Amino acid sequence: MIKANYPTDKFQDIQTPFYYYDLDVLRTTLDEVNLQSKKSDFHVHYAMKANVNESVLAVIKEAGLGADCVSGGEVEAAIKAGIAPSKVVFAGVGKADWEINLGLDNDIFCFNVESIPELEVINELAAAKGKVAKVALRINPNVSANTHHYITTGLSENKFGINMSELDKVVDLFPTLANVQLIGIHFHIGSQITDMTSFQGLCVRVNEIQDYFVARNISLQHINVGGGLGINYEHPNHFPIPDFEAYFKIFRDHLVLRPNQTLHFELGRAVVAQCGSLISKVLYIKEGTSKKFAILDAGFTDLIRPALYQAYHLIENLSSDAAIEPYDIVGPICESSDTFAKEFNLNQTKRGDIIAIRSAGAYGEIMASQYNLRKLPKGYTSDQLK
Ligand code: LLP
Repeated sequence: MIKANYPTDKFQDIQTPFYYYDLDVLRTTLDEVNLQSKKSDFHVHYAMKANVNESVLAVIKEAGLGADCVSGGEVEAAIKAGIAPSKVVFAGVGKADWEINLGLDNDIFCFNVESIPELEVINELAAAKGKVAKVALRINPNVSANTHHYITTGLSENKFGINMSELDKVVDLFPTLANVQLIGIHFHIGSQITDMTSFQGLCVRVNEIQDYFVARNISLQHINVGGGLGINYEHPNHFPIPDFEAYFKIFRDHLVLRPNQTLHFELGRAVVAQCGSLISKVLYIKEGTSKKFAILDAGFTDLIRPALYQAYHLIENLSSDAAIEPYDIVGPICESSDTFAKEFNLNQTKRGDIIAIRSAGAYGEIMASQYNLRKLPKGYTSDQLK
């Protein structure tokens, strides 16, 4: 069995649980993102919501990606990391006034607008500053992403974006709003999408929607197709880098760009998931009536994905090469949902063993909470532990 090649000896001295980021994996991933996206001059904005660890962000900034933000906090973090405001997009169904003002003050590239009332407020706040805000309309394309329903966003039943039926109304509004400029359209159909035909379906919809704008003589400078490319949670050691070549090719082959239009992406998980692991220690092995529990010092406060989305993460015992046995791998939190995996095969495990929960670089550390008054996990990088 191949396992993560981690500095386990260094891990002994660090208080568990913590996140470990392998920056070599991150850099290789970013090289591939750049290689494949630059074949067509595609623009990639890193979806900050996946992970804002400072060292991770520094590497992403170095690779030249822009930022996709969904809160004022993320806009601040992107700018603090040195990402140029001209590469920052700002989405979200509920932007507060201070958050819009922050975007305006920094002259960000674009607000992805999700409703008519939001468009009106951006216009009003921009007017107060004597500015013109650049906006893209987030359109709900009603395309299925074939993924977990909690992370499906592009169906008309979801709260996101402007529905096609409302488009006439929005487009007619623009000539009356002097302080917003329509520069693009934005889409995002969901996350952890591994079925590439979903993205092909999105391209077909985008082409149709582009016809709508052409028919009204509205020229759009850019199309933003959001993020969503999935990763291989089952085999992170065999497939550490997502298939960016196939992904970008879908858009190159199926999305028809109009003259001088640029195509933008907002990738989160595909960029950072595989470089991160949650590192934990085994506190106790408890013999149940019909099974063994491996009780970790990490719980759903550190990584909520299994409890919230029934997500699978590969789990490895980095301290043992003994024969394999099934364990229910659980955390210390007082809720039954605090279970990372059931009947999971680990090398025979004992108190003190170091456990890696893999593919946790995206939506891991950033979704941690302090429930039960637990401490927030820290993040360490391979560069720091050299
Ligand atoms: N753009 C927009 C508008 C989004 O809503 C999202 C993610 C992204 C881009 C980035 O998507 P990605 O490339 O990472 O799939 N916490 C969940 C995932 C929630 C995703 C929310 N939106 C999880 O742990 O699976």
